[in-house]
Amino acid sequence: MLTVRAPATSANLGSGFDVFGVALDRPADVVRLEKASRTTIDITGVGSQYIPEDPDKNTVGAVAEALDAPAHIQIDKGVRPASGLGSSAASAAAAAVGLNELYDRGYSREELVPIAAKGEAVVSGDAHDDNVAPSIMGGFTIATDDGVTKVDADIPLVACLPDIVVSTRDARGVVPDTARVEQLVETVGWAATLTSGMHRDDPDLVGQGMNDTVVTPARADLIEGYDAVKSAAHGAGATGVTISGAGPTVIAACHEPDKRAVGTAMIDAFNDVGVEARVYQTEIGDGATVF
Ligand code: HSE
Repeated sequence: MLTVRAPATSANLGSGFDVFGVALDRPADVVRLEKASRTTIDITGVGSQYIPEDPDKNTVGAVAEALDAPAHIQIDKGVRPASGLGSSAASAAAAAVGLNELYDRGYSREELVPIAAKGEAVVSGDAHDDNVAPSIMGGFTIATDDGVTKVDADIPLVACLPDIVVSTRDARGVVPDTARVEQLVETVGWAATLTSGMHRDDPDLVGQGMNDTVVTPARADLIEGYDAVKSAAHGAGATGVTISGAGPTVIAACHEPDKRAVGTAMIDAFNDVGVEARVYQTEIGDGATVF
């Protein structure tokens, strides 16, 4: 029997659509795994009533199949589904790391990323490595077709989760097919600035790079109050604000002393448009941990 804690993640960070991701110190899923002759799944915790326990329809079932590692898997959800915080990726990451160890499969953390992404595809319809990579490896990750580059970074973050549900399928449906060359140029600048900021543990540079004129504006309409929340967070000291993953969580980078004020400003701005919200005062954290 093994227990794995796999963290929530925030993908994209504005300029790194489908590429950048960070592991968040909290919240997290906790998954217990025990060898079995066939895979069975039990789910408790936040939003568990919306997640199928049928192994053919669940992320962790697909991971168990990919690793040829049947198990009884108990998932305690700490990461709300359809939150933009990599909920399905956290469960898939925990299953990949745990089953690899339970069955002594010998894969490296980086090799487990595409295996966990296959599981994520069961629910999101597409395999994205940008959530599973940081949930497995921790830190700030750059996931491309050539593999994953990880940077250990220390940046204070505030994640504000409104009581709104946005499905990844809907959020991908509004992504434009094309972008202008000027947008490509500015995106390269922001992505490079953000990456430098991660290397230097510099919240100002990271915040400057959390910008995007292609995908985020198209998705903002799916999140009631987004523009007001963004502007309130900036007013309270946030250095950068954007949609976390496919949304509806809004993620802000800031300096440590401003965390509380940024969180309060974001909640108040959502409340002002009649939306309940909660805040995670967090930071960039470790990848999946086996107990
Ligand atoms: N990069 C993905 C998106 C993350 O924003 O659609 C969610 O799978």
